[in-house]
Amino acid sequence: MNITNICCIGAGYVGGPTMAVIAEKCPNIKITVVDLNETRIANWNDEDVNNIPIYEPGLNEIVARTRGKNLFFSTDVDKAIDESQLIFISVNTPTKTYGTGKGMAADLKHIELCARQIAKVAKNNKIVVEKSTLPVRTAEALKSILDNTGNGVQFQILSNPEFLAEGTAIQDLLNPDRVLIGGETSPEGQKAIEALVDVYANWVPRERILKTNVWSSELSKLTANAFLAQRVSSINAMSELCEKTEANINEVAKAIGMDSRIGSKFLKASVGFGGSCFQKDILNLVYISKAFGLNEVADYWEQVIIMNDHQKRRFSKNIVQTLYNTVSGKKITFLGWAFKKDTNDTRESAAIYVADDLINEQAYIALFDPKVSQKQVLSDLDYLETRTASENEKHITSYENPYEACKNAHAVAILTEWDEFKDYDWQKIYDSMLKPAFVFDGRNLLDAEKMKSIGFVYQSIGS
Ligand code: NAD
Ligand code: UDX
Repeated sequence: MNITNICCIGAGYVGGPTMAVIAEKCPNIKITVVDLNETRIANWNDEDVNNIPIYEPGLNEIVARTRGKNLFFSTDVDKAIDESQLIFISVNTPTKTYGTGKGMAADLKHIELCARQIAKVAKNNKIVVEKSTLPVRTAEALKSILDNTGNGVQFQILSNPEFLAEGTAIQDLLNPDRVLIGGETSPEGQKAIEALVDVYANWVPRERILKTNVWSSELSKLTANAFLAQRVSSINAMSELCEKTEANINEVAKAIGMDSRIGSKFLKASVGFGGSCFQKDILNLVYISKAFGLNEVADYWEQVIIMNDHQKRRFSKNIVQTLYNTVSGKKITFLGWAFKKDTNDTRESAAIYVADDLINEQAYIALFDPKVSQKQVLSDLDYLETRTASENEKHITSYENPYEACKNAHAVAILTEWDEFKDYDWQKIYDSMLKPAFVFDGRNLLDAEKMKSIGFVYQSIGS
């Protein structure tokens, strides 16, 4: 089947960038990205392409070239479903906050709603592609809903998980390590796989397009995220031991990373991993394992999360201890709020939890992040429900200018590794701070020797 019309349900961090790249690489395919969130769609359609809702290097240029030609953003979900041959489901699958599996299982209510809507609207055969990260065997539930509530048309379900990382999404999409497509082994299933392979083959070498059964594809996504997060927790665990032994985590990471069996990537010690995926997907893996009675498997992976929570908590504890066991009434400046550099996404960012701890200790936080608004910061803190919104507002203030944010602070804490932080005039910052001036570098971003020579009491992770 030659695909000429695609719909993507969900205009978020995955749906938006992924469809923009497909549109750029496949000028003959019309792509409509739909979402229930009217503001989000309005922002995607904003005349000024710099106002699109997601900050991702290179994204706005691609949107500028494709939008209105073969890439469209709309709230008319039914129309887009009706017109398309292939539908990506790219909606959010957060951790459940209620009922059975609360705090662990993936909440599949948005996925089910999509399936029911597709079934209701579809008047001809469709390929439905799971782009969202889903528990293994979700395709079974999707198929049951589609087949039992539809208008008698045929649905083929594919699993095509997304491996992009935020901040490098466009590069990851343009040049993926692999594209994974899982489908049924039946002739119809294989035909559907080939139709999607042909879309990606417009720019991805065919040998990098991997075909598997549906269950392997679904489970590979959870496995990849679990392995990646495990590396971060492993290096962070060693960082604490380094601090006790005068070993240096950067040196240890370099030494082990040169072993080709280990590899050098993803060994950066930090204040803890954040982002919308790692924690959610591991908790989901733990939940699934427990559901099958695999308690040792569940406990093994849960430890990755326990270690990460510990790493965030010990960062804030160390700030309090170092500042003479009290931060009450003290101004502490955060540089960075996003969960990593080059994104405006703050979901599960370590900064949120460190701020929460310090506000519990009655600190006043001044914040600068180049891409995150005060509104977002407050909404992240309010979501924790630790205290009232007005208390949060009293204790955290965003600044437009990093130097203003640092003025009269007792300490600066680096929570995100934005490149620009390295180039600041640190002497000027030092001169404007209270003394002794402390820097807690949660990203090992700055030059320790330089910072100490200026006069800072400088502490990083794992040394
Ligand atoms: P997101 O929250 O940014 O976007 C999801 C969008 O879906 C929202 O705008 C929401 O309004 C919309 N939506 C929800 N239900 C809908 C419905 N019934 N009809 C229409 N629109 C609906 O989420 P995201 O970060 O893009 O993640 C989407 C999926 O991709 C998740 O399963 C996630 O685990 C997975 N994933 C995310 C990343 C990442 O880096 N963010 C990477 C790989 C995979
Ligand atoms: C992750 C996966 O990398 C990606 O393949 C998947 O599709 C979605 O989840 P993302 O969460 O966007 O991507 O970013 P990633 O680069 O993986 O970073 C996740 C968190 O780990 C960030 O907070 C980052 O700062 C932290 N991290 C990463 C470290 O602390 N050290 C590292 O060495 C690497």
